[in-house]
Amino acid sequence: MTENAADDSRPMILIVDDNATNIDLLVNTLKAEHRLGIAKSGPKALEIAARLKPDLVLLDIMMPEMDGYEVCRRLKADPQTAAIPVIFISAMSETVDKTRGFELGAVDYITKPFQAAEVTARVRTHLCLEEMRRQLISQNLLLERKVEQKTAEIRAILEASIDAMALMVEIRDPYTAGHQQRVAQLACAIAGKVGIAADAIEGIRIAALLHDVGKIRIPVSILSRSGSLLEAEFHMLKIHPQVSYDILKNIPFPWPVAQMAYQHHERLDGSGYPRGLTAAEILPEAKILAVADAVEANSSYRPYRPAHGIEAALEFIEAQKGTRYDAQVVAACLELFRRENFSFDYDAGGRERLL
Ligand SMILES: [Fe+2]
Ligand SMILES: [Fe+2]
Repeated sequence: MTENAADDSRPMILIVDDNATNIDLLVNTLKAEHRLGIAKSGPKALEIAARLKPDLVLLDIMMPEMDGYEVCRRLKADPQTAAIPVIFISAMSETVDKTRGFELGAVDYITKPFQAAEVTARVRTHLCLEEMRRQLISQNLLLERKVEQKTAEIRAILEASIDAMALMVEIRDPYTAGHQQRVAQLACAIAGKVGIAADAIEGIRIAALLHDVGKIRIPVSILSRSGSLLEAEFHMLKIHPQVSYDILKNIPFPWPVAQMAYQHHERLDGSGYPRGLTAAEILPEAKILAVADAVEANSSYRPYRPAHGIEAALEFIEAQKGTRYDAQVVAACLELFRRENFSFDYDAGGRERLL
């Protein structure tokens, strides 16, 4: 085997042939522009190819012990050597011989007796193609990494923007601070239990984090009022799902986030607001949001009443299971709290956090 110095950057060709005269001819043809490896048998060729990873293999077919087809098959079967271009050089010139070589993954076929110029030209062409293929792969990898990086950046911006919008409402309405995060946590858990796909759950999470942004339109005097709301004040409060919808409708989320927010106070029997939609008209995601919202709101402190606690909140939705709230969603919610020890991660006392 002929090996040049390690710092030689010329491409390396592995010549595989059991005939010394053919080897000499190929060496004389290629030695000026290439580093050369020589193997006089199939097993030796596989050993050198695995060790030195040549840039191209010139492979004789008719060899004792292991023929060129088998060598090619094994080179292509090994992930370490599969990408190395193989050119068959053989006296076998029948179409069927060439076809078999190509089927095994060879890139070209040179018939003996060969012309030196033909060998040189074909070797150059395939080395050039291989170099372009490698560059393409590395450029693709680079692009993939850039896309991943940009996607992560956009995602971080989206998350921060959602947080900022949620915070704007919570700063105006500190008594419900953390409400949207807790609703999001519960809504996602319920959605997982009722078999909603992971991608759709992400939409529910975002809608839950933003469902009350419309409260930005409600006067602080109403939001922080202690005691029962007057009729006119309650009427005012009821516009917030519509305002949430108006704020969110032009954001091109891949999920119906604005509609979910719009429908979070709708009830199956048409008793909800703002549009009095009935069961078939309410999105399945909004039915989940409605239950999570009701449970969180009823269990937490409000300026006009003390916190009812989680068990009272669960009894509240259980009593309206199938009439105002979706039965399957309510069942999933009850199971989460009563059998799976679900609890809110976010502190309900968000007022101190914000003030
Ligand atoms: Fe609401
Ligand atoms: Fe809410």
